[in-house]
Amino acid sequence: MAKTGIIGVGKYLPENVLTNADLERMVDTTDEWITSRTGIKERRIAAENEVTSDMAVKAAKNALNNAGLQPEDIDLIIVATITPDMFFPSTACIVQHKLGARKVAAFDISVACSGFIYGLAIADQFIKSGMFKHALVIAAEKLSSVTDWEDRSTCILFGDGAGAAVLGTEDGGEILGATLGADGSKGDLLQLPAGGSRMPASIKTVENKLHTIKMEGNTLFKYAVKIMAEAARAVTEPLGLKGDDIDIIIPHQANIRILNALAKRMGVDPAKKVYLNIEKYGNMSAASSAVALTEAVEEGRIKKGDIILMDAFGGGLTWGALIIKW
Ligand code: ACO
Repeated sequence: MAKTGIIGVGKYLPENVLTNADLERMVDTTDEWITSRTGIKERRIAAENEVTSDMAVKAAKNALNNAGLQPEDIDLIIVATITPDMFFPSTACIVQHKLGARKVAAFDISVACSGFIYGLAIADQFIKSGMFKHALVIAAEKLSSVTDWEDRSTCILFGDGAGAAVLGTEDGGEILGATLGADGSKGDLLQLPAGGSRMPASIKTVENKLHTIKMEGNTLFKYAVKIMAEAARAVTEPLGLKGDDIDIIIPHQANIRILNALAKRMGVDPAKKVYLNIEKYGNMSAASSAVALTEAVEEGRIKKGDIILMDAFGGGLTWGALIIKW
């Protein structure tokens, strides 16, 4: 088996900032409620003509630059997104073309917030097997395009952005262990009901706002804490790692209270070990953990040799956790 490493990371965030004060003028909410219940202060919103693949390409270019590689060096492109440019062709194919990559393997994965973790685990396997030398894993979301801006229980949560990682056989962040899982029986807790074969787009689906995210936040909150803690245990135990052995936790950024509860269950101090940027960006689904990893590297929070736990949970339900030795 070939050795694999994360050899470059990158991000892209749209310029436009939507603050809690802006949301106070749009729906019946307050900065105090949003901050205390979620930890979010502001989020980024893509321009109308800026689509998921545009953000994906910008994040990918930054990751390639960080890795010292060119688009033509890439053998595999995976895009994790639940807000693709369109049903098909896949956003990965659009990215391959916009990036000027060779005619390499490219596909999307629909794993909601766990998409970046799934993407890294998949790419790692392809490289370990020797099938590909360099892979680009991108997580990109334009959640503002599927948000009901009149629903205060969801519109305060989401933001747009993209993050990316390049994996290769060179020295880099080595994935020591991975756990991935799904439970489709609870899919109705977080869904975008219309537009697929079950409920094709119609005037009625548009009138009933069935093309926007529907979420049972309260129930999901409880599953998120439980499942993220279980995923952390599932990935650390086989490696003989305890909470103290983890230098930094890079989690999916859905809610600061979920992350504090996760840290408590793991017996670690959230202030010291949990990387947070939710206050700036809100929940960007798959892009959240990708941007968090990139910023933790950029800010020097991750040093060579550090043991990183990445842990995510999202719609599907899906979850995934990785241990990476940087
Ligand atoms: N402003 C003011 N009040 C609000 C708002 C708001 N924006 N939103 C809801 N409320 C009210 C509710 O109406 C309710 O009022 P009531 O008690 O009079 O009925 C009250 O606040 C409490 O509502 P809850 O839904 O119980 O609030 P909760 O504390 O659970 O917070 C939240 C809601 C933030 C959504 C939380 O449940 C959460 O973060 N859930 C997890 C989300 C998640 O992890 N999703 C999966 C990943 S996302 C992905 O895969 C794309």
